[in-house]
Amino acid sequence: MDDRPIGVFDSGVGGLTVVKELMEELPNENIIYFGDTARLPYGSRSADVVTRYSLQCIRFLMEKGVKAIIVACNTASAMGMDAIKSTFDIPVMGVIESGARAAATSSKNGSIGVIGTEGTIATGAYQKEIKRINPHLKLTGIACPLFVPIVEEGWADSEIAYLTARKYLSAFEDKGIDTLVLGCTHYPLLFNTISRVMGPGVTLVNPAKQVAHATRHMLEDKGLISARNCQGRYKYYASDSVERFQRVGTAFLKKAIQSVERVDIHRY
Ligand code: DGL
Repeated sequence: MDDRPIGVFDSGVGGLTVVKELMEELPNENIIYFGDTARLPYGSRSADVVTRYSLQCIRFLMEKGVKAIIVACNTASAMGMDAIKSTFDIPVMGVIESGARAAATSSKNGSIGVIGTEGTIATGAYQKEIKRINPHLKLTGIACPLFVPIVEEGWADSEIAYLTARKYLSAFEDKGIDTLVLGCTHYPLLFNTISRVMGPGVTLVNPAKQVAHATRHMLEDKGLISARNCQGRYKYYASDSVERFQRVGTAFLKKAIQSVERVDIHRY
């Protein structure tokens, strides 16, 4: 039994979609979340910069005494995992592996789509991981950069979101995909809009859900699970406005965020 918290970080509030799933899957675990809101977005930055930022986020979380790190950001998972794993001696889990595994098992016709930030799609991380699992699968990746600001504006279910989704997702029209990976923290909030565009024949894979299952397995395997009788406690930190984090983050977490502390991430 290990009651130390799990550390989760993302470029902003988006990773709260992963925290939401972790809370459901692991209600006894304490969680410390850091959102690097001052340096959002990661999705349009280079791998060097995203990796440097990610290492700083983890140093901050390690100072808080976490027992494991969840890289909730798809862009950071796509760009920084090698550097992260070679720098820190702590169990680390990104979102790509579990999302890729779920997609590879979901597809019946062998054609899979992946959507994400420009950075995530450019690395081809999901595509490579899915191909590693099954080299016969056909992959198409499309960057959808406008989805992040649309979701943060609270317009996930609006006509603007629908038309934007139609424009981006039309790239899949002649691909015959039966599975689509929502490869960005913000996209689970667009689930209904994307389903409406793609239709019932396409299964949407939410890596946030998959990473929560994988985290439970990892903690169990390593003997790091917390005691059953303890109710999880949650602490939130951000590198920019705590008011904005509370306001926008609530939509991602689907529950009120009582308090947030500001962190000067440049110190780490
Ligand atoms: N959290 C990022 C991701 O999942 C999206 C927002 C950003 O670009 O920083 O890729």
